[in-house]
Amino acid sequence: MKIKHTTQDVEKYKGDMITYFVHQKSKGVPVCNNKYVQETIMLAFKAGDFSGKEGEILLFYPAGKGKLPAKRILVVGLGKAEEGESNNGVKPVDSWRDNYRRAGGKVSETALRTKADNILLVVPDSFILNKGETTECITEGVVLGSYQFKKYMKTKQDDELQGELKEIQLFTEKAEKPVLLGFYRGKIAALACCTARDMANEPGNVWTPARFAEFGRKLAKTYNLTCKVLSKTDLQRLKMGGILGVNRGSALPPKLVILEYKTSPRNPTLLLVGKGLTFDSGGISLKPPKGMEEMKFDMCGGAAVLGAMQAVGEEKPKGINIVAVVPATENMPGSSALKPGDIITIYGGKTVEVINTDAEGRLILSDALAYGIKQYKPKAVVDLATLTGAVVIGLGHHRTGLLGNNDALVQKVMAAGDRSGEPLWRLPLGPEYSKQIKSKVADIKNVGNRAAGTITAAAFLQEFVGDVPWVHLDIAGTAYNFTDKPYVPSSGPSGTGVRTLLELIRNWK
Ligand code: BES
Ligand code: MN
Ligand code: ZN
Repeated sequence: MKIKHTTQDVEKYKGDMITYFVHQKSKGVPVCNNKYVQETIMLAFKAGDFSGKEGEILLFYPAGKGKLPAKRILVVGLGKAEEGESNNGVKPVDSWRDNYRRAGGKVSETALRTKADNILLVVPDSFILNKGETTECITEGVVLGSYQFKKYMKTKQDDELQGELKEIQLFTEKAEKPVLLGFYRGKIAALACCTARDMANEPGNVWTPARFAEFGRKLAKTYNLTCKVLSKTDLQRLKMGGILGVNRGSALPPKLVILEYKTSPRNPTLLLVGKGLTFDSGGISLKPPKGMEEMKFDMCGGAAVLGAMQAVGEEKPKGINIVAVVPATENMPGSSALKPGDIITIYGGKTVEVINTDAEGRLILSDALAYGIKQYKPKAVVDLATLTGAVVIGLGHHRTGLLGNNDALVQKVMAAGDRSGEPLWRLPLGPEYSKQIKSKVADIKNVGNRAAGTITAAAFLQEFVGDVPWVHLDIAGTAYNFTDKPYVPSSGPSGTGVRTLLELIRNWK
C-alpha cells in the first residue's frame, strides 16, 4: 500500500474515491469548499439524510455538469466545530485529535466496503488543530482503518472479502513543513501500530519466541539498532528463574529479546518492557477451554514494544536512548511444567512461591525488569502486559489500566495516552496491597487473592523496579477487542500501546 501526500489539483483526480470532511452547523447545511460536492450535500441535507454529524457519511457517484472525474465522492461528518469540555481527564484538543482519526477510519471503512482501491482525502481546515496536526490524525485514522489480516484466507471467494487499499493520498493545498511533518508522523505511527497488530494476529504455532527474536534482529538490521537475543543457556547462566520457570512446560525454548536505540551515553535511557507470552494455556493451573484461543494475544505487550521500536527506528528521536526488552515464552502444562507450590528465584535473587501457574506474566516480566534496570540504568521504565483479567472487570475494553511509582512519569504517560486516543486510568499501589503477596515460605508469592487482582499484579512487579520511576500498563482489556472505533478492528488486536509509547518518546524532552 502506498501512502502519499499530494498538492495536485483535486478536480483532476481520477481514482476510485475522493473524500471531503465537513462540520455540522447549528442550523443549516454543512459547508464544503468544492462547489460541485456542495450541491449534493445540499440535496442530502434537504432530504434529511446528512447533517454532518460525527460518523455520518454521504457517498455518491458524480454525474452531470461540472462533475469530478473520480468514481465516487465521500463526504464524512465531523460534528459541530465546538471545543467541548474536558471529559474524564481527556482534553478537548485530544478528543478532537481522535475525532479526526475516527473520521479517517470511516473513510477506510467505506473504501474497503466499496472496494475503492485508490483514494484521495482532502484534509479539512480545523477550528481547533493546526493543519499539521489535522493531517497527522487523519493520516493515522485512514491507515489504521485500512488494516486487514487476510494472510490465511486462501480459498475464500472475492465476494466474501473486503477490498484492499492500494493507494491513499492526503491532499493539502500547500506542502508546508508542518503539514509534511504531520503526515509522516501519522504514517509512521499507524504503520508501527499495524506491525504490532500483524504480530498479534499470527497464531501461537507461528508467532513463537524464536519469531520474536527473528523480528527483533530484522528491526535492528533495517534501522541500525542493536539486537541481543538471550537464549535458554544465557538465561540459565544469568539465573532468570521466572522466564525459565514459565518455560518449563513448553517444547519451545524461551528468548529474551533486547533492542537498543542509542544516541549518546549523556542522554537519559528509557526502558520499555513488553510481555511476550506467545500462548497462555495457564500451565498446570490450566485455563478453561472457552476463549482460550484468545490467549495467543498474550504477547501484545511485546508486540507493542517492538512496534514502537519500529517507529523509533523510522524517526530517530534525539536526546534519548531507548531499550526494549521482551521476555518471550509459552506457558504450557508439559510434564516438567512449573507446579503450584514450586519456589523459583527471579533475576537478582528474590524468591517466589508459585501459587497459580496462570499468573505467569509477572514471573517473566520481573526477570526482564530486574535485568533491564541492572544492565541499562534507565531514567524511566514503562512496561506493557496483558496481565490480568481483573482489569477487564474494572475498566472494560475502553481504557488501559495504569499503575506507577512516580507521579511525574504517570502524568507523562497519561498525557501520551490521551493524545493518541488510547486513554488510561490510574489505579493505586501501596503497602496494603503489597502485603497481599507476602509468602510464608518465600520472599513473595505470585498471587494475592481475588481482591484487587490488577493492583496486586502490579505490586508484584514493583518488587523488581526499586525506586526507578516506573509505569505499568495492563492492556488485557485493550490489546484486543478494544473499544468500538472506526480505526480499530472490531475484533482482534488493536496494537494499543504503540502510539502511546511513541507519543511519550516524541514529547520526552
Ligand atoms: N494472560 C492472562 C491475563 C488475561 C486475562 C489477559 C484475560 C487477557 C484476557 C494472565 O496471564 C492471567 O492468566 N492472569 C490471571 C491471574 C490470576 C491467576 C491471579 C487472571 O487474570 O486470571
Ligand atoms: Mn496466565
Ligand atoms: Zn498470561
